[in-house]
Formats: sequence, structure tokens, C-alpha cells
Amino acid sequence: MQTTQRETPGFTNSRQYREYAVRHLANGVSSTPRTAQLPVPVAMDRALDAILTDVDGNDYIDYTMGYGPLILGHNPPEVVAALKAEIDKGFRTASVHRGEGRLAELIAETVPCGEISSFVSTGTEAVQLALRIARAATGRTRIIKFRANYHGWFDSVHVANAPGNDGPGSGGQDPKASENITVVDWGDAAALEKVISSDYAAVILEAAAVNAGCFAPPEGFLQAVRDLTRKHGVVLIFDEVITGYRLALGGAQEMFGVTPDIAVLGKAIGAGMPISAVTGSRAVMEALVDGRVMHRGTFNGNPLSVSAAIACVERLQRDGAEIYPRMTAQAAAIQAHINAEAAALDLDVCANGVGSAVQIFTGVRQMANIADLAKADRSRIVRLTEMLMMNGLMPLPRGLMYLSAAHTDGDIEATMHALSKGLHAYATL
Ligand SMILES: Cc1ncc(COP(=O)(O)O)c(C=O)c1O
Repeated sequence: MQTTQRETPGFTNSRQYREYAVRHLANGVSSTPRTAQLPVPVAMDRALDAILTDVDGNDYIDYTMGYGPLILGHNPPEVVAALKAEIDKGFRTASVHRGEGRLAELIAETVPCGEISSFVSTGTEAVQLALRIARAATGRTRIIKFRANYHGWFDSVHVANAPGNDGPGSGGQDPKASENITVVDWGDAAALEKVISSDYAAVILEAAAVNAGCFAPPEGFLQAVRDLTRKHGVVLIFDEVITGYRLALGGAQEMFGVTPDIAVLGKAIGAGMPISAVTGSRAVMEALVDGRVMHRGTFNGNPLSVSAAIACVERLQRDGAEIYPRMTAQAAAIQAHINAEAAALDLDVCANGVGSAVQIFTGVRQMANIADLAKADRSRIVRLTEMLMMNGLMPLPRGLMYLSAAHTDGDIEATMHALSKGLHAYATL
């Protein structure tokens, strides 16, 4: 689908909506980062394939992709059909149903570590379940996490998310809840080796650090983490909430050839419906199977989300050999274009990428590795993404861009023009 081009997008209806929403809806949004968008958090009216349309009738080539989940684009026909069929059978929330077993089987077929699975609704919940399983399996409490890796917003792990702050990421967090977390630099196997011991239950990490800025793991890092966790009997958890079904059918573990004990899946598995999973080896998941770990949730494995996930994974299983290389090539072309244009315009802007995700940085001309993260100017990126939005692209306000199976060659061609125009506009600010 092509976008409707317009000279200057107006946001009258988005502004009016915001004035109305803030009267009773906290900050006018349901998740804090959504307020970051300039010139106003844009209210969306509808979407199809790779195109989002806002309440003022402006079209955008969407690169938020629902903050990651929409791996097949907006309204993929097979997912819509599965949902419609499921609705006609009644919601059956909180019932045992045949879809759950089928989805677990599909995960076992596609994700290297995915022998036994269990479902929840969000990535945040799934991380908590994974940590509980690791603690029950080992009889230990302490956890190692890495700087600038994000594992959801619950107090026990919502620390060390931004450069220069190893503490809580939000006001109101209980500092005691994260007392059992040790923080280490991501990508630094020697630093991990110094702290890891048989006191720890788990090491959790984003195998590819997408939240930090789309960093692929340094050569040998994941294997070193695998070897160290094995040596000390520590459960290795890959948080694949973003990377699962996005970087490859088997996620980061397939792409980088290192298999964890447990993976946390979310976002893309549900093609836009709320579902997440913990999946792992039979040996570690035994703590959940035998009842040592209590796992609860009214909406866990609900038939609607599960039907969407089955349709999504079956499609990726069928067409992944074509979809993944295409998305990766499109992302690489976007990254290269941003870097070339930024160099031509002599701008402090650069782009990183891993698989089908691209991160734009402002304030730096190069982001050689995650150690350089503090050099980026996080306040300027929202101005750049504003300029891209004014030219018909919709990245996340923080500069992250996700491809999907629905992005056509025509969308990418239009994106290249819009990137050039947006970067020129940014240069004149
Ligand atoms: C790597 C990672 N883990 C966990 C989460 C939390 O997932 P959710 O937002 O579904 O709770 C996210 C969300 O962005 C994430 O990127």
C-alpha cells in the first residue's frame, strides 16, 4: 500500500484528542514512552500492511510496528482469519484448550531451546516467571543482568537500563526488590567471569542488545557466557522478547548459534496480540512441571492470543526463508542510507542495525560498540524522529525502527526519499 503524500502534516485532531485524554487518562497515554513523540503524541486511527493512518488522515510508513510485535505487518490476513474463527467459538478465557498445546509444539519445532513452554500475556511477566523457574531449579537467589539491557518494568529487574544509572529506572520502585541483582557490562565476558559464581541462579541478557541500540554480540561473547554459566551451574536466560521470531525463526539463539537454558519470547510471537512465553530445556523447566513453581494468570494462554500466535508462527515457518533475508536486507539498506546521508550533510547522526531492527543515534558519528552509548545525545533524537515523521515515516520516538514482512520494495523506496528529506530538515534545525 502506498502512502498519501501531503505537504505539511497537520495534527489538529491529535492535539484535540490529547487535550480530551489528559482530563482522565494519566498523561494521556497508557505507557510512558508514548508521551515522548514530538510535536504531539500522534493518535492513530487505522492501519494496514506497513501503513499507519492518524486521526488527521496523515499516512506514515510504519517502523514502530507496534513497538516490535507486528512482524507480519498490520492486519495480516492469516492472523485476522484465525482471530475471527476463534471469536466465533466464544472467548473461553482461562479454559484449557487445544491451541495451547499446538503453540508449544510450534515453539519446540522452531526455537532451539524450546522443549517445554508456558504462556503469559506480557514480556514483563514472562521474565518474572523465567527468573522464578531459575531460582527454583537452582535453589539460589542472585541474578546477573547487563547494563542497558531491558527486561520489563517490574521492580526486581528495572535497574541499570540507561548509561550512567545502575539504580532503579523509575520513581516509586522498591530498592530492596533489586538487591539480588548484580550488574555487569554487556559484551564483556571478562567482567562476567570476575563476578559469576555458584551463588547465582541465573544470568539474563538480551543476546542482541536491541534496546541499547541494536548491537550484535561481540565475537565469542555469547559462547563465553554459555561456558561460564555451565561451569557454575547457573541458568542462562536469553530475553528474546524482541529478538524471538524477529531476527530469525529461532531468534537470536539461532542467529548466533548459542543455545540458552531458557528463552523469554514475546512481541513478535503474537503478531500484535498480547502473549508471551517462557520456553526452555526439559531439565530446567521441570521446576514448573513438577509444581515447585507457582504460575498463575487469568489471561495466560487465552484462546484469542494463542490463535494469533499459531497463525503467525505457522506463516513464519512456511515463508521465513524468504521473509527474514528480505527484512534484514531492507534494514541494512535503511541503515546504510542514513549513514551515507548523515556523512554527506556533515551531521552528528549515525545508525546501527541488527537483523530487521535499526537504531538511529544523534550526537555521534559512529557507534562502534555499546561502551560508546553514553556519547549519544538522547534529547536530540526526538527532534530527528519528529522530522522523519513530518516526512511520512513513523519510527519510535527514540529512533528505533522495525521492519516487517509487510514492507514492500515500494515502501522502502519511499522511505529512502523520506529519510533524505527528514535528515535535510534536521540539518536546518
Ligand atoms: C527485551 C525485552 N524484555 C522484556 C520486555 C517487556 O515486555 P512487555 O512490554 O511485553 O512487558 C521488553 C519490552 O520492550 C523487551 O524489549
